[in-house]
Formats: sequence, structure tokens, C-alpha cells
Amino acid sequence: MKTKMMTGFALIAGMAAAASGQIVGSGHDFSSYAWSDGEICKPCHTPHFAMAGLPRLWNHELTVANYTMHEGAGTAADDFDIVSRLCLSCHDGTVALDSFGGETGGSFIPAGANLGTDFTNDHPVGSDAQYPPDPQPSWWAGAFHETPANVRTDTWTDGSGVDHQVVGCATCHNPHNRGNHDPMLVISNSASALCLDCHIK
Ligand code: HEC
Ligand code: HEC
Ligand code: HEC
Ligand code: HEC
Repeated sequence: MKTKMMTGFALIAGMAAAASGQIVGSGHDFSSYAWSDGEICKPCHTPHFAMAGLPRLWNHELTVANYTMHEGAGTAADDFDIVSRLCLSCHDGTVALDSFGGETGGSFIPAGANLGTDFTNDHPVGSDAQYPPDPQPSWWAGAFHETPANVRTDTWTDGSGVDHQVVGCATCHNPHNRGNHDPMLVISNSASALCLDCHIK
């Protein structure tokens, strides 16, 4: 009886963890990798001595890659909102996963998650995807919802120092896997709900 109750409690605790389960066990739980020091947050964040000038107590070396955007040549610094640039610091394959905390590593992102530096085969992000565009073309209002109901846009600063709202990686993904919408999406994409939050189709 006692054993049975213990099992019951363990099961309930396990289910609770799964229900609120977010980053643990996700593609961003690096704690099993030899280079992670058994920690989850550390490759991305640090409580002290974070990188100067970056948001979110960032601890990972930042990409400085050149890209091929939908609209021509671009760079990490010029064409992306800062959160997307944080993502690309592992996902463009130019900076090692284990380059954090001031160390230079040698383990790179696996092929399936490596977006590379050519964005012409990816959903437009950053300078390619103002939301809404400024100036707003006449066709825009019929093609897009004025304000997305469930997803956010991010701020990209153009070469003249003017801020624009754009589609970024965090428009569609949550790096902590909040909500468990595979693959780490901000909302479920069942019946393409994520896409229809912006596109009128
Ligand atoms: C793979 C990299 C990565 C890992 C691992 C990671 N984070 Fe984050 N975290 C981010 C990014 C990128 C942002 C910015 C997200 C955004 O603006 O939407 C962020 C933002 C945050 C924020 C700011 C508020 C928010 O929720 O967006 C907090 C707090 C945070 N992370 C805590 C943690 C903690 C605690 C851990 C470990 C349990 C962790 N993160 C693991 C990448 C990571
Ligand atoms: C510290 C390096 C690092 C950073 C920073 C990082 N990622 Fe990842 N990401 C990874 C690795 C490693 C994987 C797992 C790849 C694998 O195992 O195939 C991954 C996996 C993913 C996946 C696939 C998850 C799945 O379930 O298949 C998505 C989506 C993703 N990352 C999005 C993001 C976004 C969006 C950001 C920024 C908000 C980000 N990542 C920041 C390293 C990183
Ligand atoms: C418009 C929404 C959207 C944006 C913006 C977006 N993604 Fe995704 N991403 C998705 C969806 C949806 C999937 C799942 C695709 C599928 O299952 O076929 C995905 C899949 C992924 C995967 C997993 C690839 C795989 O096949 O395992 C990674 C890694 C990833 N995205 C990273 C990123 C990064 C980094 C950015 C920013 C440069 C980004 N995404 C921007 C919607 C988006
Ligand atoms: C935050 C709003 C938003 C979300 C969510 C979103 N999109 Fe988009 N999408 C855009 C914007 C902005 C553009 C660029 C429009 C332009 O300037 O031409 C775009 C462009 C596109 C294009 C045209 C690309 C090209 O090369 O011409 C396709 C196709 C597309 N999106 C499909 C999707 C799909 C599929 C999803 C869901 C996985 C999705 N979008 C989610 C805003 C969004």
C-alpha cells in the first residue's frame, strides 16, 4: 500500500512536470552534452558577467556572419532584430554551440537545425519582413491582419536608425519551449493557426 501510494505521488509529480514541462528535455536542454557543465541555461544566459550591450543576460558568442537575404546581401548586425541574432549565434552554423562564457568551442549545430547563411529558402525575417511595412502598400491590408492576435513582432533598426516591427525567430518560436508546441512554437500550428495569425488566406 505504501509503495503504491509512493508510485501514485511519483506519477502525479511526473505528470505535473510534463504539463508545465518546457525547456527540460527539449532541443534546448543541453545538460547532457559534455560541454554544458550539466547546466541548461548557461550556454545562453549567465547571472553575472553577461556580454556587454546585449539583452537577456546573454552568455553566448554573437554571430557576425554575412547573409543572403530575400532582398540581397545582408549581415547579422544590419538585417536582424537582436533576438533573432541571438538565435543565429548557434543556428547559422558559424559559431560553435560551446562558445560561451568567454570560451571558444568546437561543437557546431547539427545539420537539421542549421539554417546556414542563405535565407532565400526560409520564411522572411528581419529586414525582409516588416510588419506592417512602412510605407504600407495598398495590397497589404487585404493580405495581412493589421495586428497579429497571438504572436509578437520584434524591433529591427534600419541603417538610418529608424525602428520597424518585423517578423523574427521569436515571432514563431519560444526558446524555452513554453507550451510544448513542437518544434518550440509560440502557439500550436494545428490547422496552420500560427500562419493564419498574420496571413489572411
Ligand atoms: C538556447 C538558448 C537558451 C537557453 C538554453 C535558455 N534561454 Fe532563456 N532566453 C533565450 C533567448 C533567445 C531569450 C530571448 C527570448 C525572447 O525575447 O523572446 C531568452 C529570454 C529569457 C528570459 C527573459 C524573459 C523571457 O522569458 O523571455 C528569461 C527570464 C530566461 N530566458 C531564463 C532562462 C532560464 C532560467 C533558462 C534555463 C532554465 C533559460 N532561459 C535557458 C535563450 C535561451
Ligand atoms: C546555444 C546555441 C543555441 C541558441 C542560442 C539557440 N539554439 Fe535553437 N537549438 C540549438 C540546438 C543544439 C538544437 C538541437 C539540434 C538537434 O538536436 O538537432 C536546437 C534546436 C532548435 C529547434 C528545433 C527544436 C525541435 O524540437 O526540433 C528550434 C525550433 C530552435 N532551436 C529555435 C531557436 C530559436 C528561435 C532560438 C532563439 C530564440 C534558438 N533556437 C537559439 C542551439 C541553440
Ligand atoms: C513564420 C514563422 C517562423 C519563423 C519566423 C521562424 N520559424 Fe523556425 N520553424 C517554424 C515552423 C512552423 C517550423 C516547423 C516546420 C515543420 O515542421 O516543417 C520551424 C522549424 C524550425 C527548426 C527545426 C528544423 C527542423 O526541421 O528540425 C529550427 C531549428 C528553426 N525553425 C529555427 C528558426 C530560427 C533560428 C528562426 C529565425 C531565423 C526561425 N526558425 C524563424 C516557423 C518559423
Ligand atoms: C508575424 C506575422 C507572420 C506569421 C506568423 C507568418 N508570416 Fe508569412 N509572412 C509575413 C511577412 C511580413 C511576410 C513578407 C511579406 C513581404 O514583405 O513580401 C511573409 C511572407 C510569407 C510568404 C512569401 C514568401 C516569399 O518568398 O515571397 C509565405 C509563403 C509565407 N509568409 C508563409 C507563411 C507560413 C507558412 C507561415 C506559418 C508557418 C507564416 N507565413 C507565418 C508574416 C507572417
